[in-house]
Amino acid sequence: MTVPPSTSPGAQPTPAKPRRVRVHHLREAKQRGERLTMLTAYDYPTARIFDEAGIDLLLVGDSIGNTMHGQSTTIPVTVDELVTAVRAVSAAAHRALVVADLPFGSYEASAEQAFATAVRMLKEGGAHAVKFEGGARVAAQVRMLTDAGIPVVGHLGFTPQSENLLGGKRVQGRGDEAAERLSADAVALQDAGAVAVVLEMVPAPLAARVTEVLRIPTIGIGAGAECDGQVLVWLDMAGMGDWSPRFAKQFGEVGRALGDAARAYAAEVRSGAFPDAGHSFLE
Ligand code: KIV
Repeated sequence: MTVPPSTSPGAQPTPAKPRRVRVHHLREAKQRGERLTMLTAYDYPTARIFDEAGIDLLLVGDSIGNTMHGQSTTIPVTVDELVTAVRAVSAAAHRALVVADLPFGSYEASAEQAFATAVRMLKEGGAHAVKFEGGARVAAQVRMLTDAGIPVVGHLGFTPQSENLLGGKRVQGRGDEAAERLSADAVALQDAGAVAVVLEMVPAPLAARVTEVLRIPTIGIGAGAECDGQVLVWLDMAGMGDWSPRFAKQFGEVGRALGDAARAYAAEVRSGAFPDAGHSFLE
């Protein structure tokens, strides 16, 4: 997505200070047919790299539980854990719009509960928007946050926080009834004020239909090529994880590069080659 530089007429663009991606840019990108890019981020150094690479949205996902904390599901992730990660990512993001996930148990009970958690993400974490899972069942939450000035990204299809109810990591929306329900949920989120919807593990033709029907952008993960944007867990994208789903393409070998660096370091320490004079204070 291209975000026009912020200049007054006649002024020079200032490339050193990129213009922030805002929610209206998401809608405009959809209207122009420009694809949105989103990656997860959980800390300052990777968020800085992704922001400088021009990734439009950084999602501080509750996938932090699996990817960073070694847990088998996202269920145990706490609000405090996410707030800390959101603060680090926000500190690094000069251009990207930072979206904070609301973890399991922190928004489902009521709109008031969702509001209280979202306020922490914005006040303590510095997020620009929040994301949570569910369709019509969380429409009241989306409405209240939107009315309070907090942009909300929805999340439909395979929703990892409901993994126990869904019977594991399974494609959602297969069959007419399920497809109808998912489409109705997407419209309910849009009508409640959501600024975008993540579609996870949804058949590509259904994701394409939802994308066509909605005015707000869809961001796909395992939902085919017709979504308005794509999101991946960064460790899957960069070749850093120990497992990645079929829909995740690996664009780098970061895990291998890090292992090589660690082995080279250990070899030089063991041989006495490091630290040499160039890396020592000689007086
Ligand atoms: O938590 C997360 O990383 C997510 C993405 C998979 C969309 O919700």
